[in-house]
Amino acid sequence: MGLLIKGGEIVTADTRMRGDILIEDEAILGVGPRLAAPPETEVIDATGKLVFPGFIDPHVHIHLPFMSTFAKDTHATASKAALIGGTTTFIEMVCPSRNEDALNGYHIWKERAGGASACDYTFHMAVTHYDARTEAQLREIVADGTTSFKIFLAYKNFFGVTDEELFHTLKLAAELGVITTAHCENAELVGQLQQQLLAEGKTGPEWHEPSRPESVEAEGTGRFATFLETTGATGYVVHLSCAPALRAAVEAKLRGVKIHVESVLPHFLLDKTCAERAGVEGMKYIMSPPLRQERNLAVLWRALQAGIIDTVGTDHCPFDTEQKLLGAKAFTQIPNGIPGIEDRVNLMYTYGVKRGQLDIHRFVDALSTRPAKLFGLFPRKGAIVAGADADLVVYDPDYRGAVSVRTQHVNNNYNAFEGFSIEGRPSVVTVRGKVQVRDGEFVGEPNRGRFLRRTPQYAEAHEEAVYAA
Ligand code: URP
Ligand code: ZN
Ligand code: ZN
Repeated sequence: MGLLIKGGEIVTADTRMRGDILIEDEAILGVGPRLAAPPETEVIDATGKLVFPGFIDPHVHIHLPFMSTFAKDTHATASKAALIGGTTTFIEMVCPSRNEDALNGYHIWKERAGGASACDYTFHMAVTHYDARTEAQLREIVADGTTSFKIFLAYKNFFGVTDEELFHTLKLAAELGVITTAHCENAELVGQLQQQLLAEGKTGPEWHEPSRPESVEAEGTGRFATFLETTGATGYVVHLSCAPALRAAVEAKLRGVKIHVESVLPHFLLDKTCAERAGVEGMKYIMSPPLRQERNLAVLWRALQAGIIDTVGTDHCPFDTEQKLLGAKAFTQIPNGIPGIEDRVNLMYTYGVKRGQLDIHRFVDALSTRPAKLFGLFPRKGAIVAGADADLVVYDPDYRGAVSVRTQHVNNNYNAFEGFSIEGRPSVVTVRGKVQVRDGEFVGEPNRGRFLRRTPQYAEAHEEAVYAA
């Protein structure tokens, strides 16, 4: 049985029109005014609603062994939460530690997600060391359809790579035509500052930000850019949080470096005073790069509107308050991470589009179309055109509510955005033509999600074709 989404305001990254969307099997069959549908077709009345392409979260952690514990979500809980919030595809970071075998780690992540996700997904493969086996393993992983790498300049001795390893990773990425995403903070400086602060008896969460100041992130961003420039690789800075780091990325872009920028939900809405709250209240807000001084927020919003920041992810990474208290004696032991997979779309719509900080087309672009383009999913995802996967969000702009731990579906006992009002939410969400969500409730197939195989797209000829599209 087909599906007809009728009479909605269809809004994409570059178009807006009132019309219908006809879906057959898993794909969009047609888009236009007053479409005729076969007799058995289910009709969804979208009058008064916006219809967006399914949103893509380009940066999430679900299975994550990190800082002596594990992030709380499973693929089942995270994917349902994602869908309820309008995200129909996520890209998860495969993060084996430095001492683990990369290929083995890749299989562990794939097995955990396989058959367990309600929405579609793909991976960024973290390269956390580079030894004699790494090159062959990465070639195998890319051939399997995972065509983006992740490197950490932070987290020394755990996920972090040396400059030598960074160089080899980027040389291979350039040869294979894959994009490399990067957490850009100088690990050595963070380590030295942490030890200095602890030695001075500064142990609370309020010292997390001073241990990783803006300059440390700017250095990491600039160094990553220099390595991209030298190797010819294409890069993507994840969770960029502050003006000096943005400046480093923009300077690199102006030099012709192939560098893209992501910022994440917490950095648009929260500032460092959250982490200055006493005890566990402050610990809830520990992530890296840290929440920054408030003046950075306006800079990020403007850069997002201008398209200098390409995408908005979440860096979804839930640790509950018991886990956060592992750092009760030293801020360096607080598991880093803030969840957001369920709230990204509604909060960016409310505080971006509704507050006049973000054009609605740029909103769709940054949260759906550009992640699809950058990571080899477009136009299968991120577009409302015939032939695309029928991942659609029928969005109710008249809904009024508030974010709360009491109503969330993420597996955690707090929500960092507690009490934030939302002005709009998905009323229907489809994944490849199947209705998965209605008005805040998951109503679909728990294991509908598929692993999305991609092909490398940063070999010179292919890149030109993508950007011409
Ligand atoms: O604090 C964060 N960001 N936790 C997740 C790991 C990472 O650095 O992305
Ligand atoms: Zn990171
Ligand atoms: Zn992350």
